[in-house]
Amino acid sequence: MHFSTSVLVVVFGFSLALALEFSELPQQQELLLQRQQQQQLLQLLLRIRSERHYDTILLYGRAPCVFHAVLPLLQLPTVLLSRGSSHRDWEFSTELLLLCCGVNAEQEQNSRTSWKLQTARRLIYVETRLQPQRLCEDYFERELYNVALLDAEFATSGSFYSCRSFQKPSYAQLQILDSLPIYVEQFRDMQGAILRSEADQLAPRSMLYRDAKSGKIRMIGYVANVVNTFVERVNATLQLRDDYELGKITYYGDIEKLTQQNLLDVAATLGSTMTADNWEYISYPYIITSYCVMVPVPAALPYKSIYTVVVEPLVLGILVLLFFIFSLLLIYSQRLTWRDFSFASVLLNDRSLRGLLGQSFPWPEHATRHVKAICCLMCFSSIMTTTMYQAYLQSLFTHPPPEASIRSLQEVPYSRYKVAMDRREATNLLKSRNLTLDDTKSGYILDDWNEFVHMRDTFNASFIYPVTELRWKTYAEQQRLFARPAFYYSDDICLHRMVMLSFPMRRSLPYRERFEEHMMHMQDFGMLESWMDHSFFDMVELGLTPLKDFSEPVTDEDILYLRDLTWVWLFYAIGHVLATILFAVECYRGRERGTATPMT
Ligand SMILES: *[C@@H]1O[C@H](CO)[C@@H](O)[C@H](O)[C@H]1NC(C)=O
Repeated sequence: MHFSTSVLVVVFGFSLALALEFSELPQQQELLLQRQQQQQLLQLLLRIRSERHYDTILLYGRAPCVFHAVLPLLQLPTVLLSRGSSHRDWEFSTELLLLCCGVNAEQEQNSRTSWKLQTARRLIYVETRLQPQRLCEDYFERELYNVALLDAEFATSGSFYSCRSFQKPSYAQLQILDSLPIYVEQFRDMQGAILRSEADQLAPRSMLYRDAKSGKIRMIGYVANVVNTFVERVNATLQLRDDYELGKITYYGDIEKLTQQNLLDVAATLGSTMTADNWEYISYPYIITSYCVMVPVPAALPYKSIYTVVVEPLVLGILVLLFFIFSLLLIYSQRLTWRDFSFASVLLNDRSLRGLLGQSFPWPEHATRHVKAICCLMCFSSIMTTTMYQAYLQSLFTHPPPEASIRSLQEVPYSRYKVAMDRREATNLLKSRNLTLDDTKSGYILDDWNEFVHMRDTFNASFIYPVTELRWKTYAEQQRLFARPAFYYSDDICLHRMVMLSFPMRRSLPYRERFEEHMMHMQDFGMLESWMDHSFFDMVELGLTPLKDFSEPVTDEDILYLRDLTWVWLFYAIGHVLATILFAVECYRGRERGTATPMT
């Protein structure tokens, strides 16, 4: 293991061996100087600690070096990296002070460790006489901003340097005894430094427009505004491309790639932490939302099939069962024996049939109490069934119920809809959930992100679209202008029930923390909500949302045609045919017997 030889970790206290080494130096005067230097250095380290606390020290460089002698006096956990790197992914505490014995002592090889150490405070000792201007600029070029420098002169004069970006000269000379801050907030005022951004133009989060006065391109939206206000806050200059095609949406993945290539600082778009494989390129989550689908509101059931909905087979079966039970009861209760029982008298019991259908029927002669009770029961159930059917039929004809809605992705292939998706998003998202969207059966995969968004924006009702809840809010607002809603947001079919969205940013962005802090301030002050509430108006103002009714036009909705009652007529006809046949059979059999039997 190569790192075990190069790393030597000393925790709490340092042996006095180093101190003894120094004491053996021959000349008395140099010894004194050493002592003085140690004292001053200790004072400096304590001053840094009182400015902002540190609880760990990381020391780059070989002994002997001025720092090694002072460390035992500080009594703090210390990591010694004598070769300048550990090749290892360290998790240091955020309260860290970095000491370097020489400008080139820090040779961190592990890119993740060096990324994490980017904003740590650095104190650098230079053997030779240092040139602060050049050194500070060197550090700024490496995007390290919290740097203080000292050289051998520190021992006698007590003066050292602290780098100051965006200032001229780019350093400040400080004295050990003065009270000026050593490490300052460098990005408080960026003096008009450029911040490169790009908007994806996906309304309403970031939209572009040309400013009428200056003719410059500006951006707006609840995502773009965070970048806008940050630029304003730190006195930077926002740089947008000049060759934007207004209204042309860029796929957010493409912008993410630009930030990963260091071509942008902070992008005015949102990337999902779900698909991000590296957290170094995205900010702290800005918004949490759900990512589900919007489904066309199911059409109303055609009038023609309403009757089939009303006549449920199960209910019909129960009614037939009731009919048989009443027939049996009537037969038995008349004489309290089964002597009159025959299949024909049960299956074709005329009293029970008429009674259940709410028709009048001859009351049995010399009715006993049992018969009366059963007839009462029959009357009661006939009132129930006839009123129930009538009520259903009439109310459903007035307000036809909607067709069954889709409840899961598995149901999509059996519906008349397909899920429209961008190919890149489909591969990204579905893969992360182990779903497959069959290209032909249930999915409609588009290669052009713009086309996908256009289809969604125009409420093309042949498809189901994935949409974030945030975006859905503006669609819902837009739908209020329609004659009736065209889509609804389905909580049942979700790609992600909770998705965290963050700003894509450059890996070594030195003001990452400051940006995140600003972002969270905007949330805390309720700016995010205010921007979101306003987003629909912004979209209308910029002409991104046409005030047009995309819902399906209402066609002859309130007219009932004769053909809509087909099933009712059919049942009616079948009943009549049956009755006629029975009548014919009875007539025929009556004549055959030659006796006139009174018909009941
Ligand atoms: C902002 O930056 C400009 C340089 O672009 C500078 O002149 C100005 O003083 C700065 N404003 C503030 C408030 O510091």
